[in-house]
Amino acid sequence: MSLDYDSKISKAVQQVPPSAIRKFFDLANEMKGHVISLSIGEPDFVTPWTIREAAINSIIDGYTHYSPNSGYIDSRIAIVDYLKRRYGVSYDAKSEVLVTVGGSEGLDLAARALINPGDEVIIVEPCFVAYKATVEFAHGVPVIVSTKPENDYKLKPEELEAAITDKTKYVIVGYPNNPTGAVMTLEDWAKIKDVLMRHPEVIVLSDELYCELNYLDGKPASLTQFAELRDRVIMVNGFSKSYAMTGFRVGYIAGPHELVAPMIKIHQYCIMCAPSTSQLAVVEAAMNADNEIKKMRDEYNHRRRVIVQGLKDAGLDCFTPYGAFYAFPSIKSTGLSSEEFCERFLLEKHVAIVPGNAFGACGEGFVRISYAASLEDIKEAMKLLKEFVEELKKG
Ligand SMILES: Cc1ncc(COP(=O)(O)O)c(C=O)c1O
Repeated sequence: MSLDYDSKISKAVQQVPPSAIRKFFDLANEMKGHVISLSIGEPDFVTPWTIREAAINSIIDGYTHYSPNSGYIDSRIAIVDYLKRRYGVSYDAKSEVLVTVGGSEGLDLAARALINPGDEVIIVEPCFVAYKATVEFAHGVPVIVSTKPENDYKLKPEELEAAITDKTKYVIVGYPNNPTGAVMTLEDWAKIKDVLMRHPEVIVLSDELYCELNYLDGKPASLTQFAELRDRVIMVNGFSKSYAMTGFRVGYIAGPHELVAPMIKIHQYCIMCAPSTSQLAVVEAAMNADNEIKKMRDEYNHRRRVIVQGLKDAGLDCFTPYGAFYAFPSIKSTGLSSEEFCERFLLEKHVAIVPGNAFGACGEGFVRISYAASLEDIKEAMKLLKEFVEELKKG
């Protein structure tokens, strides 16, 4: 008799659907011939050379062992220096920073360290696919706040306040936003801070993976910059996006010791430490790569303008993104669902993009287009998009 696997697998795991993005990657991979991919949330740049060199040198120098659980102190000091320089915030390298395996680990650690079964976690959608899943894996209850294009996909203070209950454990905010490209300015965050001041029990998990990809003024803007919230904001950050270091699998959390310590405990038992090679690359990245990331930011900014114009030319409504490397146009005028649109665009024009509903139900009627791709590919894709939309409108 074969095993009843369903009864063996955790219900929490069974209930979480696989990431809807996967389907489109798989479909694009199966296609024959050249496919332009504007689907991936990953820089097309190779990691800047000096950072790669630091990684190579770490191996030559024999840094091939476990590091301390929280990360090499040099890496943590470099991160603290970076946060001081770019955000103007201070953390203690010894007790308030943990080097993680990407920002992804930070999101998971926060959920596991904070949630008791039934606790509510406010998730601002559309958002990165891991937020809801990590909360559900940890037996938390996601409470969704849907942002809107007419509000530039910003989190509105009154919408946050309406979602807070006495069961709210924390709220996850992710700006610059994946998938919309929305940013929150310091003035916007100040209004959110006012709400949080009225709810002193609510913790904030601030995902700042795209903090350097802000085209308004090129600077990070964050709730961590409000001293009044110092005791309850956990920053999740990393090097994957701004530094083009996805494969290094390295990120960090920074926050008050009382909240970081339980996460270090989980990390200690489950991960041990982030990869040593990557941690030494981080010293170089955090200390010396400001110019390199500026060059990439300038290039993304150029592509952003091209893509926004391309979407206009194709006749699609698009809120102007000012952060990350995504545009999130509406495809409602075509009469197709997000999935139908992406599937047909891929099959008929060989361009892969991602349905907006993969990032939350309010993303239905939208698609995510990544401009972490060459200008040539972006221009060609925009030409094909225009053709595709015209053909759809003709019927
Ligand atoms: C908003 C956001 N947060 C976190 C991550 C995870 O990044 P990392 O590669 O550092 O784990 C991603 C990756 O796509 C992301 O888009």
